[in-house]
Amino acid sequence: MFPKNVIAIDGPAASGKSTVAQKVADKLNGFYVSTGNMYRAITLFLMQSKLDLNSEATPEKIDSLLKKLDLSFSKTADGKLSMTINGATADGAIRSPEVAKYVSRIAAMENIRNWLIDRQRNLSKLGLIIMEGRDIGTVIFPDAKYKFFITASPEVRARRRLAQSGETPEGSTVASVAKEIAERDEMDSKRKIAPLKKADDAIFIDTSEMTVEEVVNHIASFVKETPII
Ligand code: DC
Repeated sequence: MFPKNVIAIDGPAASGKSTVAQKVADKLNGFYVSTGNMYRAITLFLMQSKLDLNSEATPEKIDSLLKKLDLSFSKTADGKLSMTINGATADGAIRSPEVAKYVSRIAAMENIRNWLIDRQRNLSKLGLIIMEGRDIGTVIFPDAKYKFFITASPEVRARRRLAQSGETPEGSTVASVAKEIAERDEMDSKRKIAPLKKADDAIFIDTSEMTVEEVVNHIASFVKETPII
């Protein structure tokens, strides 16, 4: 019983999986979904709700705030999915360094992950989805036929993140970004619930020495050539 319309792509921060997943979605006419952006949207919403994430982020407080959050997706005219946070289209604010600072902590909370599970699974009703994150192949769609785990060396990942303007604090260096990424990976891999982990049946791709096009073609060809049982 494999969901045939789900391509699960997992991997650590700045591994290139978002760029790759978006291009795979374009190539195969599917919808791209970044689950990291969902965690970032919740983090931003909690910050805007004036919750002090250092001292007040208790499960009870978060549960009561989540009741006031509507995180929705709608199809756009150009065939993509647009995410809205309480009716407002999510913008660059979800990718700010401030949000990045707290998102791993928020993503480690059980009630946050539980709140998202069905919302993420339901997106597969929209058609072919290419969903990227940390636990898509292990927890969200463990039966997906197409699973990939994408990574790259820490230095390559730091250089890629630095090249994405607006996502790193001013004055960042390869070394400082590598440190921030390593800390986040450690938190994401060591948490108890749904840690960053390659599913046993996922295809491992180290993209350190590959171009985006090579990775995209590798995934798209595999999907086209591997029939669903
Ligand atoms: O992919 P990203 O860097 O935008 O993800 C932001 C954070 O969200 C990252 O630190 C880990 C967390 N995350 C997660 O725990 N599970 C997912 N499926 C996706 C992201």
